[in-house]
Amino acid sequence: MFGNLETLAPDPILGVTAAFRRDPDPTKVDLGVGVYRDEYGNTPVPAAVREAERALLAEQRTKVYVGPAGNLEFNERIVALALGPLAGQLRERTATIQTVGGCGALRMGAELLHAAAPDSVVHVSDPTWANHEPLLGNSGIALERYPYYEPATRSVAFDRMLGHIDRLPAGAVVLLHACCHNPTGVDLGPEQWRAVADVLERRNLVPFVDLAYQGFGDDLEADVAGLRLLAARLPTLLLAISCSKNFGLYRERAGAFAIVAENAATARAIATHQARTGRRMYSMPPDHGAAIAARVLVDPALRQAWEAELAAMVARMKQLRTLLAGRLAARRPDLDFSWLTRQRGMFSLLGLAPAAITALCGEEHVYMPPDGRINLAGVSDANVDRVADSITRVIGRR
Ligand code: LMR
Repeated sequence: MFGNLETLAPDPILGVTAAFRRDPDPTKVDLGVGVYRDEYGNTPVPAAVREAERALLAEQRTKVYVGPAGNLEFNERIVALALGPLAGQLRERTATIQTVGGCGALRMGAELLHAAAPDSVVHVSDPTWANHEPLLGNSGIALERYPYYEPATRSVAFDRMLGHIDRLPAGAVVLLHACCHNPTGVDLGPEQWRAVADVLERRNLVPFVDLAYQGFGDDLEADVAGLRLLAARLPTLLLAISCSKNFGLYRERAGAFAIVAENAATARAIATHQARTGRRMYSMPPDHGAAIAARVLVDPALRQAWEAELAAMVARMKQLRTLLAGRLAARRPDLDFSWLTRQRGMFSLLGLAPAAITALCGEEHVYMPPDGRINLAGVSDANVDRVADSITRVIGRR
């Protein structure tokens, strides 16, 4: 039955982890998959998350099903974290379902779009996260790209982006990264978010916001200012939330998908479709990660501790950006690396030719996906000179 299946090429991001693990070189460096790392290269579970988990384990008396929408307290709290005071104002118009991580949220959104409007097209940024197109497209939905990144200035190609969006037909769906754009690290500024909101509103377009890094760019509020602007102004908004990075809950697959609908009746109908879609794919979401995140958000002491840990992670990533930019500039004073410090989140694109990226992974044992995206959190005081040396050696290779 399966004999004619060909072996597939590795996933562009997850394949990097596998290649890194296979490499026996003791000095190898992993700048691949987007997970936060501390100065020792570990991806710790935040203390507040561990504490919440301990409390849950002590109290839990049953593993009975949670229900199709998942943990309702989690759904409410996580949407409130994203939308702030707006969440209360929009409660009747919002339908939320707990999902299998942020990927599950994106896929849930695509499935619902495909069911409700099979001809709708989702427009994603060029470039975008390597899994966006496979993950969304596999639902049957059509995908197209809008210009987003200007390699020459290493910033948002904003005029081209806005001009492109302004020509989309009414009803088109525009996928936006709320913050910490993956893979470029370049985000829209406040004025740009306002201009995007204007166009979406005027052209009757539908925003689909991917919120995978709340709190990883600047802070929990600033990172969602653009999202909140859209939620306040647009009649319909799709929102995919991940708890992988900010709660350190990667393998627990905690996430949520919400739609802010035009009215309460539509939101109620959407909730039934969310439940049915989940039931048909995996029945019900897993409990553990969402229950932990809910606990952290509900308990004032845990929440305060978590916010402090998150702030420390962000501060470290900003320091690492400055550190690497400085070490590269010291080696190549003729080149500008200040863009590294202006970008946000874990990722930046090195902007090197494919041969240079191949050499970095193969000859230098510094691992990253083929697009040259680096995870800054993989840099440390201990390896920054080694990384800067390697990058410097391959710059200019074609
Ligand atoms: C990444 O972009 O590296 C992360 O979001 C992990 C993944 O699943 O790709």
